[in-house]
Amino acid sequence: MVTSSAPGKVYLFGEHAVVYGEPAVPCAIERRARVTVEERPEGVRVHAGDLTLDGFTVEYDGDAAGRPDVDVPDSLIEAGVGYVNEAIAQARDAVGDETAGFDVTVDSQIPLGAGIGSSAAVVVAAIDAATRELGVELSREELAERAYQVEYTVQDGQASRADTFCSTVGGAVRVEGDDCRTLPAPDLPFVIGYDGGAGDTGALVAGVRNLKETYDFAADTVAAIGDIVRSGERALADGDVAELGRLMDFNHGLLEALGVSSRSLDAMVWAARDAGALGAKLTGAGGGGCIVALDETAETATALEYTPGCQEAFRAELDTDGVRVEAG
Ligand code: PMV
Repeated sequence: MVTSSAPGKVYLFGEHAVVYGEPAVPCAIERRARVTVEERPEGVRVHAGDLTLDGFTVEYDGDAAGRPDVDVPDSLIEAGVGYVNEAIAQARDAVGDETAGFDVTVDSQIPLGAGIGSSAAVVVAAIDAATRELGVELSREELAERAYQVEYTVQDGQASRADTFCSTVGGAVRVEGDDCRTLPAPDLPFVIGYDGGAGDTGALVAGVRNLKETYDFAADTVAAIGDIVRSGERALADGDVAELGRLMDFNHGLLEALGVSSRSLDAMVWAARDAGALGAKLTGAGGGGCIVALDETAETATALEYTPGCQEAFRAELDTDGVRVEAG
């Protein structure tokens, strides 16, 4: 039996603009998905204890054809089973045993579909644990590549390498097209506010594309986000956390101009700023989900807890480990 865990992520800078070739800087956060895998004679049995759902157990033969009889929305079951199923397919392929059977237990502290990388963390940890259970240790490059292939398949080709790379290697990373690398970074005191919702990534990306094709200001805004990312890389290298906060504020303003913020995201961003955060912005596709702020004190998390529209607020340091073995 092997347990591996992998971190979620926030975008410090650059979501949406990264779709048009600008760089982006996601950062791994100390908020993890843990996946335990034990070999069994055949088939795959999945138990998900805490995916912000009531616990459910799914037993299937490897192609997700058998519909599980559980009391949660079909779309969540399909998504959850799809990611685990493809992760198991990658693990089987990596060890050269197409019929290996597994008991898989997923335990995640990362809200689903909220822009902080829950699916990538589950997939990275699942491939790592399943391959180790069969005695194979993948390099981080291969693990990140296989996890990306899972997201690419399940999300019908709508996946960037940002989440899976960041979750595998940890720390601050820079993504530009297919080029992914790690960046040196100081300790970053992240505070995350979650509105309990989720945006529709496909629709939000399509909306920005439309705006960019219709208005020059939107194309200029995307380019301006690229400039902020490049300034952010310099601030990271200098360890200048105050400057990072200022740039996050600018980045949020530009995302708002592109129409991807929401009332609850803006309310949380302003609550964080009023509480003395160094900066705050939405993270991920937007429309709902999470904001990220920088604050070493407890003020921002406390203010967010009292902000209407905020369902949960928590601190999360920058994770520097990436995927790791917890037991086994
Ligand atoms: O919400 P997330 O974590 O899936 O991030 C989406 C980021 C976008 O830049 C909007 C889209 C993408 O694939 O890069």
